[in-house]
Amino acid sequence: MRLHKKIAIVTGGGGGFGEGIARMFAAEGAHVIVADLDIAAATRVAAEIGGLAIQGDVSVGADVQAMVDLAVAHYDGLDIVVNNAGTTHRNGPILDVDEETFDRVYAVNVKSLYWMTHSCVPLFRRQGRGGSIINISSTAGIRPRPGLVWYNGTKGAVNTMTQCMAIELAPDNIRVNAVCPVIGATGLLESFMGQADTPEIRAKFVASVPLGRMSKPSDIANACVFLAEDQSSFLTGVLLPVDGGRTA
Ligand SMILES: NC(=O)c1ccc[n+]([C@@H]2O[C@H](COP(=O)([O-])OP(=O)(O)OC[C@H]3O[C@@H](n4cnc5c(N)ncnc54)[C@H](O)[C@@H]3O)[C@@H](O)[C@H]2O)c1
Repeated sequence: MRLHKKIAIVTGGGGGFGEGIARMFAAEGAHVIVADLDIAAATRVAAEIGGLAIQGDVSVGADVQAMVDLAVAHYDGLDIVVNNAGTTHRNGPILDVDEETFDRVYAVNVKSLYWMTHSCVPLFRRQGRGGSIINISSTAGIRPRPGLVWYNGTKGAVNTMTQCMAIELAPDNIRVNAVCPVIGATGLLESFMGQADTPEIRAKFVASVPLGRMSKPSDIANACVFLAEDQSSFLTGVLLPVDGGRTA
């Protein structure tokens, strides 16, 4: 198994891409902490994969520290962090997003990386066996669509932070990479499309993906397993589009 006995935290692991990542990590032998705002969802996934659930908001420093503390208390360490939890404003004109929504999108998508870095990097350094941080970014940070200006900005920030962190943390063998999915049919889909989820609207979005479909949780999970495992030990600072050619 590719992640045998590795210890991983997956934020937003209660649904969507995060659930797919948590499931595949467990299938590859990892001990998985499923962290989510929605404790019922996290508990369901954790029970099904033999992992641990924790309720927490990734934009709150104490909650993020509790996720890392749980890994140490229960599994005696940590090897992999997947910063997956994310949110968006509804697709629409640039002036229609209010300040509260803007602040929330930045807190969940960007400040979360600040908190997780503060919680996991000191531990990785103490353990002395490196670590793998995987940020779930988006094609929106590479080739943005109109209507999601502020959300796209958060993913641009995630991409830049991924590259900077990779360089700064390389001497500790802490690898930092990003996975950049194209649109997928998760809980965020309608907000991304900004209109009702109909076959016609889906077809419009799929038309810009050369391989002709949306991304699936298993596509994102496969990329995460690769970036987490030792086979990718020389990869850091990579922004990996999982996008059927959308950004090519
Ligand atoms: N779905 C897409 O089209 C798409 C495309 C590119 C990137 N992404 C990114 O993928 C990641 C996962 O999104 P998804 O599409 O699976 O969404 P989703 O809404 O299906 O799942 C997100 C999960 O994160 C949890 N969550 C939300 N805010 C949280 C918080 N503050 N703290 C802890 N947990 C929180 C939710 O409860 C949910 O279980 C996000 O970072 C998103 O930006 C999604």
